[in-house]
Amino acid sequence: MASFKKEFKSAEDEKITKNASENADDAVSPVSPEKDEAGDFDNPVRPLSFDEYIGQTKLKKNLLIFINASKKRASNLGHHDLDHLLFFGPPGLGKTTLAGIIAKELGVNIKITSGPSIEKAGDIAALLSAVSNGDIIFIDEIHRLPKPAAEMLYPAMEDFKLDIIIGEGATAKSIRINLPRFTLVGATTRAGLIPSPLRDRFGFTARLEYYDEKELAGIVARSAKLYGIGIENAAAVEIARRSRGTPRIANRLLRRLRDYMAHLKEDRITLEVAKFGIESLGIDELGLDANDILFLKTVIEKFGGGPVGIETIAQAMNDEKDTLEDVVEPYLVACGFIQRSKKGRVATELAYRHFGLIKEDSL
Ligand code: ADE
Repeated sequence: MASFKKEFKSAEDEKITKNASENADDAVSPVSPEKDEAGDFDNPVRPLSFDEYIGQTKLKKNLLIFINASKKRASNLGHHDLDHLLFFGPPGLGKTTLAGIIAKELGVNIKITSGPSIEKAGDIAALLSAVSNGDIIFIDEIHRLPKPAAEMLYPAMEDFKLDIIIGEGATAKSIRINLPRFTLVGATTRAGLIPSPLRDRFGFTARLEYYDEKELAGIVARSAKLYGIGIENAAAVEIARRSRGTPRIANRLLRRLRDYMAHLKEDRITLEVAKFGIESLGIDELGLDANDILFLKTVIEKFGGGPVGIETIAQAMNDEKDTLEDVVEPYLVACGFIQRSKKGRVATELAYRHFGLIKEDSL
């Protein structure tokens, strides 16, 4: 029987799991899409099948074709042979969820880990030697795998073999161990940072796109039902409009608005409750949060609209460059507020207009 849950736990995961409550992600920031792995996996609104999963329509269709074909072949082979998959895109769009659904569809177990929690090649060996035939191995933030660990993966992905060195110096020996078949699902916010030998070993690579308002409103309505929260249609649409195209943010905003609903002594989230709550959280008309606004204002006010390097922006904002590149910037680029050039980041005319300003070189 397939189990849709974490099976492989690093020490770091254990720490998170122990502290995880249903809504552990609430501790992160009111609306940041930053991930809370353990809380996420016990998340009661996480879709468990393709039917429940809203959005990413083209990707879902392709995945279903691959899964069904490999299930058909399984009747001859005795096991599915789904190729390794790589998902990339900003956080919170459903990469982990898809991996769980794929495992469920195939009727196999999923083992979950992440690049930063793997310290050495031996950790990969330990992970792979615990697989059973057909398991899905999910490695989040795969671009952060240390090089020796990534290299241990190459023969494993290609030939289902592990090369292990035993002993040291002149007496060191390399032995090859056969592994059961497995499917690696890698996820990354930055496909460009994955070494090409690793990237080349995935049979299918897909970018997850930001969700449109209709899809997000559908997700909010579904989550509200599962949480038992009453919500007006117009309020679900308002949340969708202000969630940076990201289901994780929409679901988090929904839970925060449940608090504003109680505060305002309402029995459901009305449009007024939604507007009041969203404004109190400092989210603007387009769903930009305080960090997005600070990013844009930094480029416009401190650096004359750019071009300015991301390190310089990070320094000026007192923030991490990686967070800005993975989380903040992609949405601003998708909105047409920021352009990336060789010389650095540039705030567009649209960004200026968003703050009621005029970009001088557009006059
Ligand atoms: N909750 C989070 N992501 C979802 C999705 N894509 N579909 C339905 N519910 C979700």
